[in-house]
Amino acid sequence: MLSIEKYQEEFIEFLENYSIVKAPEGLYQPVEYILNLGGKRLRPVLTIMTAHIFSSDYKKAFNAALSIEVFHNFSLVHDDIMDDAPLRRGFQTVHEKWNINTGILSGDAMLIMAYQLFERYEAHIFQDLAKLFSKTALEVCEGQQYDIDFETRNDVTIPEYLKMIEYKTAVLVGAAMKMGAIVAQASEEDQQNIYDFGRYLGIAFQLQDDYLDAFGDPKTFGKQVGGDIIENKKTYLYLKAVEFSEVSERAELQNLFASTVEDVSAKIERSKVIFQSSGSAEATKNAILEYTNKAFDVLDALNISEDKKELLKDFGSNLMNRTV
Ligand code: IPE
Ligand code: IPE
Ligand code: MG
Ligand code: MG
Ligand code: MG
Repeated sequence: MLSIEKYQEEFIEFLENYSIVKAPEGLYQPVEYILNLGGKRLRPVLTIMTAHIFSSDYKKAFNAALSIEVFHNFSLVHDDIMDDAPLRRGFQTVHEKWNINTGILSGDAMLIMAYQLFERYEAHIFQDLAKLFSKTALEVCEGQQYDIDFETRNDVTIPEYLKMIEYKTAVLVGAAMKMGAIVAQASEEDQQNIYDFGRYLGIAFQLQDDYLDAFGDPKTFGKQVGGDIIENKKTYLYLKAVEFSEVSERAELQNLFASTVEDVSAKIERSKVIFQSSGSAEATKNAILEYTNKAFDVLDALNISEDKKELLKDFGSNLMNRTV
């Protein structure tokens, strides 16, 4: 096995050789822009690492890893339109730099480019990858629809929230890992277990994304801090704050999240105070740990060596310390 940094380095080199821009430039330049804005490259690293866990020929996973990263970036371009987000990885979002139509069409092209990358595999692997991809991509759409539906609902429950984040975020992390296992031709049982590991890690990852959206450092976070509060997102932070608060603060919070408030920075400040004082910030941190541990529990069932399990555990533990 190699270090996480080494997998990341090799992936970025592979990405740099993926030629994107051709005519019409208005379609492909935004694709090149978003794919080269950086980002943590977590999902492709997981694909490659998983392939290496099950087979020595990890380079065979580069195309699947690239497909996952292109799909992820497509979902971000459309997500930023839906969330009215100005910033991504410290730079303007695609629809801000160009316009909404560009975001829609360049996003569409990326979704197709992601699928097209599977053509580089032999038929039986192509079939497994394409099947998993289609199922996962539809689930991401379903998760995104719930996310938007919840903005205007005031009766969202924790189980509904968990299902929403499982679909919008976690299944892609699971799929990223399962694709590595498919390319490496791991057993069906190992494919399923590694998928579940990724899915639990993905739930922890989105819980933390929600936490950082409120409490991240604006200087390093790369996205608009408080964006979820502005958009009335029914995050774990919000739902637990509503559950834990006294009557008057609960009403205040619900009121803040029921309308488009004029003074956005006051709304953000007040919401964050209630998230802290109610204990919901703490509960969110606990939930991140809980889902990371659920992921670690799945490792017991995997037919791989202890040092490989340790590497996966290190990856999960490092994720919990992230600030971006
Ligand atoms: C952002 O994903 C979208 C979520 C599912 C939370 P990442 O935090 O992995 O974004 P990048 O690719 O590192 O920028
Ligand atoms: C992202 O959820 C989920 C997808 C992009 C599918 P968020 O809306 O929380 O992601 P960020 O915070 O904008 O990266
Ligand atoms: Mg968003
Ligand atoms: Mg969103
Ligand atoms: Mg977010």
